[in-house]
Amino acid sequence: MVRAHGAILEIEDGRQIVDCISSWWVNLHGHCHPEIAAAIFEQAQKLEHVIFAGFTHEPAEQLAHKIITHLPESLTRVFFSDNGSTAVEVALKMACQYWHNLGKVGRKSFIGFEGGYHGDTIGAMSAGGSSPFWGPFQPLMFPVQIVPYPETWDLDTEAESKELEALGLLRERLESTPDSYAGIIIEPLVQGAAGMRMCRPSFLRSLRQLADEFDVLLIFDEVMTGFGRTGDWFACIKAESCPDIIALSKGITGGFLPLAVTLCRENIYDAFLSENIHTAFFHGHSYTGNPLSCAAALASMKLLEADPSTFRGMEQIHRRQAQQWLDGSKQIEHLRFCGTVAAMEVCTGKDNSYFDAIGPQLKARFLEQGFLIRPLGNTIYMMPPYCANEELISRIYRAVRQVLDNLALA
Ligand SMILES: Cc1ncc(COP(=O)(O)O)c(C=O)c1O
Repeated sequence: MVRAHGAILEIEDGRQIVDCISSWWVNLHGHCHPEIAAAIFEQAQKLEHVIFAGFTHEPAEQLAHKIITHLPESLTRVFFSDNGSTAVEVALKMACQYWHNLGKVGRKSFIGFEGGYHGDTIGAMSAGGSSPFWGPFQPLMFPVQIVPYPETWDLDTEAESKELEALGLLRERLESTPDSYAGIIIEPLVQGAAGMRMCRPSFLRSLRQLADEFDVLLIFDEVMTGFGRTGDWFACIKAESCPDIIALSKGITGGFLPLAVTLCRENIYDAFLSENIHTAFFHGHSYTGNPLSCAAALASMKLLEADPSTFRGMEQIHRRQAQQWLDGSKQIEHLRFCGTVAAMEVCTGKDNSYFDAIGPQLKARFLEQGFLIRPLGNTIYMMPPYCANEELISRIYRAVRQVLDNLALA
């Protein structure tokens, strides 16, 4: 790659490729957005970085205040780090130490969801339970109770029974050892790496009730779903279900620089605040709260605020174009949409795993046509930057149809 603008990536040989997956879900406004580039340039001439222990700075403070205004009002405290896995690691450690500081040291286990992906550090891998990538690291991972994720799609008639099953299993686990759990962690509304598996908002509201009933912390990993991806500012806003702790990263800087934040409720913060140094949360990274990243994030949030219709309106565009290009296609099933994300399975007549040949085959064919679409196993998904207009999205769906038709002929 040599350069990029909007949703277009340009390769050395001059070919142009449409970035249909926002470069692994980070890019929001299109590549090289001039306002974010300018904000980074300006900040770089003032304060490029400073140790974040014992100091703070304006971009970090402004950003913390801005993020809070778009989240449920009980999420008031912001902890900075620098990538999605770390934001999750912080959430897990924070939950564990919260109970420790309250003297409930037995509460140190977690419940996660089948298919969960929370990152590649040891704690984040553990919270995800299982993944095709983690075989060699199993001996390093700690046990997490895993329950089914009630994935659903358009026209699914079994959504409610799947939710009841998941909630029933959760209740069983919580009832059997009520004092052992620190928290429940979930990717709300959309499980990303598992194949853009979607659940209903009602499930997240039931989860909140269950967490309250058993007094366990609810952690939302919104590393991917945050900053407009689900069609609202955050999945927790869309679902009207407020977690105790939330992890954010990816789109936070509009896709320019690494940055992450983990927010929590005031009562969690209070459990760490005392004259006793041992109740403090000892977690820091060299680049925590980097001012350039914070400046990029502020500029990105200003763009989101200036025109939220870019993410609010994309689901309708997806639906219109899917109807135009994919309606009646026998080669796909489980079509589903959540805000800026659309996904479907290619019917192959067998159970597909992440590593099946169909994924790379489809990817290669899309690339030949000039589209960066990177299927997860046999799941094709589109998650373009918010600058993608209906005409561009229509081209993407047309390409998907063509590739599917050619696949059927082959
Ligand atoms: C939901 C979720 N959590 C955490 C992560 C890890 O983020 P990072 O790759 O920035 O470490 C990802 C990355 O794909 C993700 O999708």
